[in-house]
Amino acid sequence: MLAKTLEINKKKKRISNSKKFSIISYGCQMNVSDSEVVASILEQIGYSHTNEMHDSDLILLNTCSIREKAELTVRKKLESINAIKKNNKNLKVGVLGCMAERLKEKFLIEEKIVDLVVGPDAYRDLPNLLKEVEFGNDAVNVLLSKEETYADINPNRFNTNGINAFVSITRGCDNMCTFCIVPFTRGRERSRDPKTILNEINTLVKSGYKEVTLLGQNVDSYLWYGGGLKKDFTKATEIQRKTSVNFAMLLKIVAKSFPKTRIRFTTSNPQDIDTEVLETMANYDNICNHIHLPVQSGSDHILKKMNRKHTVKEYRKLIKKIKKILPDCGISQDMITGFPNETDDDHLDTLKLMDYVKYDFGFMFKYSERPGTLAAKKFDDNVPEDIKQRRLSEIIDLQLKHSYQNLLKYRGKTVSVLIEKESKKSANHWCGRNPQNLMVVFPKNNLKLGEYAKVKVIDNTSTTLIGDFYYD
Ligand code: SAH
Ligand code: F3S
Repeated sequence: MLAKTLEINKKKKRISNSKKFSIISYGCQMNVSDSEVVASILEQIGYSHTNEMHDSDLILLNTCSIREKAELTVRKKLESINAIKKNNKNLKVGVLGCMAERLKEKFLIEEKIVDLVVGPDAYRDLPNLLKEVEFGNDAVNVLLSKEETYADINPNRFNTNGINAFVSITRGCDNMCTFCIVPFTRGRERSRDPKTILNEINTLVKSGYKEVTLLGQNVDSYLWYGGGLKKDFTKATEIQRKTSVNFAMLLKIVAKSFPKTRIRFTTSNPQDIDTEVLETMANYDNICNHIHLPVQSGSDHILKKMNRKHTVKEYRKLIKKIKKILPDCGISQDMITGFPNETDDDHLDTLKLMDYVKYDFGFMFKYSERPGTLAAKKFDDNVPEDIKQRRLSEIIDLQLKHSYQNLLKYRGKTVSVLIEKESKKSANHWCGRNPQNLMVVFPKNNLKLGEYAKVKVIDNTSTTLIGDFYYD
């Protein structure tokens, strides 16, 4: 009897072992990081990863809802996957991430285009949900959690270069910017246990990784007090308060514990990045001098409607402080054009702010109304498409001008570059970034991937520094 059971178990294992999954991530780095958590969970139940969709038993799309265009891209992909499915009846398809959370069972019950719908906080339930799929049942879990940070899961970094890794430190967002879907799809903000963050980085460093980016929607708001939501910190006990760890403290511990590892972090919200964080950056050479500091608009009237929690004056003051404490710090932005009621004057204020800060680079978008957000409920999406586009082109042009001017200042200087990959344009050149997060391309010679190079900048475009020779 026992022998028979063992035989059956072995068979089962063989069957499950042979299953392959592929996973495609859309949108932000958080999704890439979550896909690595999903990969780890699936491998524990015998699935193995493949990059070949045609070779997969399970295809997962880790989706993004941030703008309408992002959702359309996912829908197009689903159409092409459904074509594959017609020739492979056993293929299962799942939607993960923000679109799963936003549209819930609509994909499954109304549209019948996928087998599995899993929200960002429900990945631990994947083994059960896959069983339901095998039994032919609906498999949906879009519950948001107060605690989930996947703290104990060691992400499976498939598709890694073995040099750079993202380590998630917070999940969710409480800021409720009126245009943004993230608080609805990723839930309330919570922080991850610092011990598990250090353990994960330790594993990475031991396996040869050279750079770690601490990741969250709002990293500067990190606060560990034993678990639970950030907003419930008001109910914390005296001991929890005394032993709590904020972002500056976490950054310090990480920088100190891994002195040879480059440390980056993203994203910072202007109202949360404080002097302690800036001073920590100044005190530790291995923390890269770059801050991604989205502002969205340079007009107070628009910032208020966006529920951004600072004024233009406060933002300018912060920029001044950053430049004082970290004179060589790279600063980048996110901007939105055509938010409801944005006038030409508001737009000119944005250009004015850009002229003041002179960002090194930025990510610029046309406003896209997201169903369910406060902006969608309260404001008319009333800036015509052609005006949104014109304003977008103007801020992109100005950004390119500033980027070029900023990069020009590096000419003749020597920069420290971590070699990350081969240049796309030339097999004889390496590509990597300097601490300010600027791309640097330079001749390979005898240097290797993962090594640091001192590169002399001889030329630049508005996005790339070009190096000639180097010293070791
Ligand atoms: N704090 C987050 C922000 C995520 S969204 C982070 O980790 O980066 C990234 C950027 O998308 C935002 O800063 C904003 O510029 C843009 N964005 C968000 N919602 C948008 C919308 N409805 N329309 C256009 N752009 C949007
Ligand atoms: Fe979105 Fe604002 Fe949070 S842009 S992710 S609600 S900081």
